[in-house]
This record gives sequence, C-alpha cells and structure tokens, in this order.
Amino acid sequence: MCPSEPVKHPEIVPTGLDYVTSVESTEVVSIQENYDLWIDGAPTKPSTNRYFQTVNPATEEALSRVAEGGRKDVQKAVEAARKAYNGAWGKMQKSERAKYLYRIARMLAERSREFAVLETLDGGKPIKESRDFDLPMSSAHFFYYAGWADKLEYAFPGLGTDSIGVVGQIIPWNFPMLMVAWKVAPALAAGNTVVLKPAETTPLSALAFARLTAEAGLPPGTVNIITGDGRTGAELVEHPDVDKVAFTGSTEVGKQIQHRLAGSGKRLTLELGGKAPHIIFDDAPLDQAIEGIVNGIFFNQGHVCCAGSRLLVQESVFDALMDRLKLRLRSLRVGDPLDKNTDVGAINSPAQLDKITRLVEIGQAEGATMYQPPCELPERGYWFTPTLFTGVSQSHRIASEEIFGPVLSIMTFRTPAEAVEKANNTPYGLSAGVWTTKGSRILWMADRLAAGVVWANTYNKFDPGSPFGGYRESGFGREGGRHGLLPYLEGGW
Ligand code: NAI
Ligand code: MG
Repeated sequence: MCPSEPVKHPEIVPTGLDYVTSVESTEVVSIQENYDLWIDGAPTKPSTNRYFQTVNPATEEALSRVAEGGRKDVQKAVEAARKAYNGAWGKMQKSERAKYLYRIARMLAERSREFAVLETLDGGKPIKESRDFDLPMSSAHFFYYAGWADKLEYAFPGLGTDSIGVVGQIIPWNFPMLMVAWKVAPALAAGNTVVLKPAETTPLSALAFARLTAEAGLPPGTVNIITGDGRTGAELVEHPDVDKVAFTGSTEVGKQIQHRLAGSGKRLTLELGGKAPHIIFDDAPLDQAIEGIVNGIFFNQGHVCCAGSRLLVQESVFDALMDRLKLRLRSLRVGDPLDKNTDVGAINSPAQLDKITRLVEIGQAEGATMYQPPCELPERGYWFTPTLFTGVSQSHRIASEEIFGPVLSIMTFRTPAEAVEKANNTPYGLSAGVWTTKGSRILWMADRLAAGVVWANTYNKFDPGSPFGGYRESGFGREGGRHGLLPYLEGGW
C-alpha cells in the first residue's frame, strides 16, 4: 500500500494521519466458472469450443473462463440482431422502446453496487471510481437516451427518425460497463439492434449486463454480446450484414478498421486515443488546479483516452506548482482497488504494464527527470507508481505518445500563444484543460485548441447530455448528448 510512509507536512496535512483499510465486500457478486456467448437472448456455446481466462489484475487470480467467439458465432449473433431488427425491436413503437431503456436504467441503478464490485474485480479500477463514476454514469446514459427514444423527431428536425439496422460495437477495457452504456443506449434509443464485443481483459460486466437485459424483458436478439480478442472484433467489423461499426480503442486498430471498411458503405465512428494538454496559467487557483491535474492523469490509473497527460505550466508558477504537486502525490493511495480509500488501483493487464514501463524507461533515456513518491507496491498483481516527468521537451516520446498509465509529462510556456502552439503539437485532438481565472482567456483558448472537448477550471467532467469525441487521430463521431444519436440515425453520419 502506498504511501509507504506517513505524509509529513505540518502546514497542510496533520502528521501521522493514516487510514484503516476499508475493503468493499465481494459477496454481492456471483461470478460463473464459465461464460458462453450471449446470442438471441440466451447463453450460447462458442463454435470454437475455446474459452479464455479473465483475471483480477490486482491479485492475478483467475475469475472466470469466457467463450472465444469465432466467425460462425459472429454470423449467429448478426442473424439474431437482424431478426430482432426486422421484428420485435425494429417494429416496436418508440414509446415502448423508451420503457425498456428506462427499465434498464433503473435496474442498473438498483444493482449498481454489484456491477461496481464486478467492474473493480475484473479491471482493477478503484471501487470509489466504479461505485461513484462508472456505474452512476452508465445508468444516467440509459436514462438520458430513454428520454430521446420517443422524441427523435425533435432531436434533429427534418432529419427523419429512421434507424440504420444492425450495429457492431467494439469497446476497450478502461471503462468496460460505461462503454457498454455509451454504445448500447443511443443505438437502441434510435431503434437499432446491437452485436457488441467487450475487451478480452474485462468481459464480465458486459456479460452481466446481457443477463440484465433478459431480466428487463428486452426482446431476444436486440443486444448480443460476443466475447473474444481482436480476431473476434475483426470478424464483427467485416461481417457483410453489419450496417454500422462503432469502435473505441487504440488509434492503431481504429485505422485498420477504417481501411477495412473503406468502400464497403458501412457507417463508422471511431473514438481513439489522445495526448491531452492540460494548461495551467499563472492566475489559476493552484490548489484547485492540483486536484484537477491529479484527477486528469491518475483517475483510473491514467487508462483514460482523454487523460490530461501533457501538463503545460506557465513558467512563473512552475516551482510553486511542482512543490504542491509532489506533495500531493505523496498522499495518493495506491493499492487494493476494493479498498474504499484507494486512489490508484491496478494496471489493467501485464501487456499494458509493459507498455507503461517501456515508455517510462524511454523517458529517462531521453533525458527527462523522473519523480515518484515513496511507494511500496503489492507483490502480486500489476502496479505502477504515480510518476511525474519534468525537463520534457516536445520531441520526447513521453510528450507525444499515449502512455495510458499514471505518468505525467510536464512542460512550461511563457505566453498564451506559446501554450496554444505546444498544446496543438500532437496528432491527436480529443480533449484539453485550461486553468485561469480570466473568462475571456478561457474562450480565447477554447477557440484555438484543437480538441473535441475543452474543460475550463475542471477536468474529466462528464454528463450524458454533453457530446464527447475527437478530431484528427483521436477519431470522429460524437457520443453523448443529442449528437450521440446522429451515428445511429439513417439521416445522420
Ligand atoms: P485495442 O485497440 O487493441 O483494443 C480495443 C478493442 O478492440 C478490444 O475489444 C480489442 O479486442 C478490439 N480489437 C483489437 N484488434 C482489433 C481488430 N483488428 N479489429 C477489431 N477489433 C479489434 O487496444 P489495446 O491493445 O487493448 O491497448 C493498446 C493501447 O491502445 C493502449 O496502451 C492505449 O494507449 C490505447 N487504448 C486507447 C483506448 C481509448 O479509449 N482511447 C482504449 C484502449 C486502448
Ligand atoms: Mg480481467
């Protein structure tokens, strides 16, 4: 458990303050030994006869074995989705569809604790985040889109309300349940049916969600869940009867999918990586900014596409800010994700831990200065100490590549124009943060920052009513809000 020594700073933190562990019970969750695919409203054995393990990254313990879907299984799932589209779901009155979405939203809220614990077990994120963010936001997304389901003609007057058909959705491992909600809620609200593939390290919440839809009475075939790795995802992308693909994940795979679909007539939306600038002006309230910075990069171990991973600090406040930031890092609690006091949980997989470790080594080799607070990491599981880099230049790989871990690259600037130039010096364009007390400067910056989302004097704020998405190599299309319906309507894009 980190910090490995009590925080001693008499002016700010009372000395000797320590916490007693407070571990969330796992009794609310029952995990099956094996999970089959979820097709046409029922568990379905995979044609491959193969199952893969999903583990708890905080302990390396195996949680369950999950079916590996192959081409024949994708075929079955798409057929089931087509049947539901041509039948029960597609022909249902819009106001009836809304009732199902409201019911799913309520059930998710009611069973929020169970889903939160499952999410933390399978993915390693702190329980305070799955409990207070992932699950409430998932339910809120279903409530929000339930409201649109029978009001589509008012969403985009003149556009029409026709749905597209069968959508194939592929999601990553950083917000497994929330990504299910972001994908499924708008697709169903617009009248489509779904085949969704969760990530191979975090399939359990999507499989629990499948069972929840059955309890909600959702017509079979409306939502199908196919588990497996990238090969299963590729089968789904290429299936000829899938009308639209929605992908969230790495820029590399996003580009491959775009190549594959070129000329096919299938619709595509991509929500990919980022290397967001987080900009601190000298008039910013520093204590609040520190909390924003910490949230920006250490939330969910930094496994966040919109993470504020490039900190740009105005030179005149650099020293003052660094003192406070280092002090704050010493009080971040890294360890058991089920402990309600934990701030930073486990790294999602050994592969991701390798990637973070490699990029941090490169940062040191390239000459940046590393700071890590004293921290004893648990022996088992995958962990990485919260890390700061100063002395970073624009050409360093840690300044340009997505690390997707608890690692912050810090640079300085002198003028607003320089901040903009450095901020936009990236192939990505997903999000940005600006801290200043001047409202006019916020607007001036927001106009110039090449980012789909700009947060001002806050970071990582989400609301189902607010669209989210990127530019350039961060992808295209919007999720959330009214705009999030467009990719699922025939007249949209
Ligand atoms: P990934 O992009 O390979 O995985 C995301 C999803 O796509 C998973 O469900 C995976 O099974 C599926 N997939 C993989 N290859 C596919 C293919 N050819 N066709 C269709 N689906 C496919 O991401 P990965 O390998 O887990 O992570 C690598 C890096 O990607 C991370 O280190 C991070 O930098 C970035 N990443 C970014 C995310 C974001 O939200 N922006 C999410 C996940 C990863
Ligand atoms: Mg897992």
